[in-house]
Amino acid sequence: MKDAEDTEKWLDALRSVLPVEAVKVDHETRAAHDHDETEDLHFLPQAVVFPATPEEVAAVIKIAAHFGVPVTPVAAQTGLSGGALPVKGGIALSTQKLNRILDIDVANFQATVEPGVINQVFHEACKEQGMFYPPDPSSWGTSTLGGNVAYNAGGPKAVKYGVTSAYVLNLEVVLPNGEIVWTGANVLKNSTGYNLTQLFVGSEGTLGVVTKIVVRLLPYPRHSYTLLAPFESAERACAVVSKIFMAGIVPSGLEFMERDALDWTMRYVDGVSIPTGPNIAAHLLLEVDGTDEETVLREAEKLAELVEAEGATEVLFAQSASERDALWKLRRRVGEAVKKHSIYKEEDTVVPRAALPQLLAAVKRIGAEYGFKSVCYGHAGDGNLHVNIVKGDLTDEAWNGPLLKEGIRALFAEVRTLGGTISGEHGIGYVQQEYLDLAFSNAALEAQRAIKRALDPKNILNPGKMGMDKAYE
Ligand code: LAC
Ligand code: ZN
Repeated sequence: MKDAEDTEKWLDALRSVLPVEAVKVDHETRAAHDHDETEDLHFLPQAVVFPATPEEVAAVIKIAAHFGVPVTPVAAQTGLSGGALPVKGGIALSTQKLNRILDIDVANFQATVEPGVINQVFHEACKEQGMFYPPDPSSWGTSTLGGNVAYNAGGPKAVKYGVTSAYVLNLEVVLPNGEIVWTGANVLKNSTGYNLTQLFVGSEGTLGVVTKIVVRLLPYPRHSYTLLAPFESAERACAVVSKIFMAGIVPSGLEFMERDALDWTMRYVDGVSIPTGPNIAAHLLLEVDGTDEETVLREAEKLAELVEAEGATEVLFAQSASERDALWKLRRRVGEAVKKHSIYKEEDTVVPRAALPQLLAAVKRIGAEYGFKSVCYGHAGDGNLHVNIVKGDLTDEAWNGPLLKEGIRALFAEVRTLGGTISGEHGIGYVQQEYLDLAFSNAALEAQRAIKRALDPKNILNPGKMGMDKAYE
């Protein structure tokens, strides 16, 4: 961290390139940008800036590079790996003012947006024109497309339609040297040069600041059916998942919730209640969609038959749009509800989907061995299980002690044995970096670090994340 005199110099420099109201140093604004949704972590930035154009972003980055000040890009602060935490102080760069939908190109099924556009706002704007932007993280009501790109966000629809990366065609990015570049072209096929576009997707603001996003769109699927299937065995619910695909059905949603996840959420979300029998251990939330109503209905019926044959006790069909919305509202708010219930650490495990039953069994076995309780839910169709380790009545010593870390390490080692990896959609950020050695060989990590060093020789952008400080040791 720079001393006070230096700080005044770079603040003056920022004030010379941005409007007065776009450079904030008051405590309230700084405190509002010192956290995301990760655990109860707080790191105060020294200043928060609100650039409104790519040129203003570039000016901020140039000043930061000149003075050696860390810059943490901050969007809606809904992240779960701590990627938006200003862990080294310095400048929090808010994308709040870069919030315009610049173009929805109906003839080409493409759109160009700024990074601060809220996911659901964009989704609705596309829908109005009969177009569909599928990636829909649970936080879609607040999270932004820039944040979604930075973490390669998924969401329930990913099982059929793919994650954010499957939609990004081209990006305008401010590089750590302050140059503004386009990474690709607004085309559906591209064999031209290195794929810089996909390098920036999921790079968590460590390589550049995205200032425009071009995505491809689909026709909006007009019909859908939503089903809720209760199971007395959670492992059996997980085992059905791969059988659904083997029966030739690709659902547009295939979510898993342990009983506690649903119970806690019903307590927390007003007006939504699902009768759950005493022996129910878990639910699958299933959805099929398409453009032809008859076909979608037939698929939904086939799906219901299949899950009943595989152990679901009684399948509930959402009868109306409001019932369907209520089920999805419950599912989307599980994370918040668990957080309200207890402090927790969230592990974003992902395995090939047929290994889901083994993953769930391993979570419970390792929990028993290392003394932690967990509540699991997530995108079963993607093999992506969110493991929420709840603090419950663990002491602060136990919660922060080595045994819990060893337990998480054992869990991730098991995930690797099952052919998976340590984050499906929440990223590495700040809290998962110590486990990166489980995900990659040294040589693979060094290749990533070489990229970081080449683009950001001074480690200006989002330092202290993704294990990238090691690139400079
Ligand atoms: C969800 C977020 C936490 O699936 O990824 O609800
Ligand atoms: Zn999720």
